[in-house]
Amino acid sequence: MGSLDGRSALVTGGSTLIGHGVVSALLEAGAEVTVADIDEAGAESVLSLGATFAHTDVTSDDQVQALVDGMHERFGRLDIVVNLATVYLDRGIETTRAEWIDALNVNVVSMAMVVQAALPLLRDSSHGAVLNVSSVSSKVAQPERWTYPASKAAVVQLTRSMAMDLAPDGIRVNSLSPGWTWSRVMDQLSGGDRDRTDQVASPFHLIGRVADPAEIGSVAAFLVSDAASAVTGADWAVDGGYSAMGPEQSVPAIPQLMA
Ligand SMILES: NC(=O)c1ccc[n+]([C@@H]2O[C@H](COP(=O)([O-])OP(=O)(O)OC[C@H]3O[C@@H](n4cnc5c(N)ncnc54)[C@H](O)[C@@H]3O)[C@@H](O)[C@H]2O)c1
Repeated sequence: MGSLDGRSALVTGGSTLIGHGVVSALLEAGAEVTVADIDEAGAESVLSLGATFAHTDVTSDDQVQALVDGMHERFGRLDIVVNLATVYLDRGIETTRAEWIDALNVNVVSMAMVVQAALPLLRDSSHGAVLNVSSVSSKVAQPERWTYPASKAAVVQLTRSMAMDLAPDGIRVNSLSPGWTWSRVMDQLSGGDRDRTDQVASPFHLIGRVADPAEIGSVAAFLVSDAASAVTGADWAVDGGYSAMGPEQSVPAIPQLMA
């Protein structure tokens, strides 16, 4: 018996590597998984994992409602929502008002709208669970990044608000904050060089490397399962120790006084 046998799960933005890690873990636990994404090119990979692909722009209320209606028709239920869709639309201080609104629309507002549309079905489930994907960027300043960290901080707070108001319906809501994770962006920026990516990440992750998408997926699958039945309103760090480390990093500083 899988921990998610018989449940229907929606993963927004599941077309790329981290999404695949989450989708695979949910499938492995026994859930039927539907990926909602605008990335048609990613549809093939999603189908090959064994999930369903529903072309959906999460900023469109009509498309989100059609997605939820389609899942109701096909599976008769919706138990789990994983809000993972994100844009890295960020030009720091140069970001225009229109870009700010677009970034917050995908990264924050759409999470709320997807949950709003899914709510009647989540209420009908006796295992309703929502997982909002945030980031270590929610808690620290990063050079030339304004919209993304602000949006991810808002996700952590939105999660608390959702958890409070959905608790009477038996729906749990948590956020998950990855550190650097092997992903489409890192694959592209490093030219597919995982070793170099691990080396760059090593000084600010206690595990000395980036996480694998499967390591995000396994925690996601746990948080939406009954094994986490007492966990709600929490932000789970899956960051290889990034957030445990202070400015001194893991290099002893005191000996430098005597050098
Ligand atoms: N890459 C990392 O190291 C890292 C670190 C911390 C947190 N995260 C978080 O993990 C999640 C996945 O990140 P990623 O790096 O894999 O990003 P990604 O850009 O590879 O994937 C994001 C997905 O969201 C989809 N998307 C964007 N706008 C959409 C819209 N309007 N409607 C539907 N889908 C839309 C994209 O098509 C894409 O498939 C994000 O929530 C991100 O904030 C990533």
